[in-house]
Amino acid sequence: MQDKLMTQALLLSRWIELNSRNLEVRVVFEMANLIVTIDGPAASGKSTVARLLAERLGASFLDTGAMYRAVTLAAMQAGVDMSDEEELLGVLRDSEFGFAVKEGKLMVLINGIDVTAQIRESEVTANARYIASAEKLRERLVRMQRQFAAGEEKIVTEGRDQGTVAFPDADIKFYLTAEAIERAKRRQAELRAKGSTESLEQIQSGLQERDKSDQTRAVGPLKPADDAIVVDTTDLSIEQVLAKLLGYVKKNA
Ligand code: C5P
Repeated sequence: MQDKLMTQALLLSRWIELNSRNLEVRVVFEMANLIVTIDGPAASGKSTVARLLAERLGASFLDTGAMYRAVTLAAMQAGVDMSDEEELLGVLRDSEFGFAVKEGKLMVLINGIDVTAQIRESEVTANARYIASAEKLRERLVRMQRQFAAGEEKIVTEGRDQGTVAFPDADIKFYLTAEAIERAKRRQAELRAKGSTESLEQIQSGLQERDKSDQTRAVGPLKPADDAIVVDTTDLSIEQVLAKLLGYVKKNA
């Protein structure tokens, strides 16, 4: 099931860049039949829930944070000045990014090399804000997200700006939140599983810094769309959140 669901590989290649004009026309006429957006701050549970919701709906799943992370890592590897947007655009243009889901897990490739684990490293997380606040770069990434949606029948997409900027006409929009301390505990559990010993305080302050940067940037800031359904996941298990979202989708989409 997961394999079937995830066979669609998202290849963000130079080819797409070169053909973006034609594809944009296609987007206008052929957007997916069902678009569900899930936005929210880091560690609000949106990635896990988005993946499971996609699976239950037989939809494709797009983790837009992975796109920002992949471009961040490519820029770090290229050694460019992270505050120079033209240089960052050059990195996007000259690299080939591959995104595919295998056995329920997202795999990310840069120029054919598997960087799935690397894009989650703390240095990449910290540097992602440069990519996230570069206007033209965001425009390109949003365009790619729409191109991806144009090729799918149903899609669940998650990030920070999916309901506000990328898919303002989505069929159903969710915004997941959770109290800061709960989010820090969730992130700590994830990090511990990978062997990290970062303290809860360190994690919480990192998340707060990221929230601030995500909420205050001029382009694509983190905020709920006016018509988003806001779900506080603080006291809910993943299964409970999933059931809630599925209920809304069945009723409204
Ligand atoms: O969701 P994730 O933590 O993987 O995202 C990494 C970073 O990418 C976020 O902190 C945010 O700055 C950026 N991002 C974004 N817009 C999105 C998805 C992620 O700006 N749609």
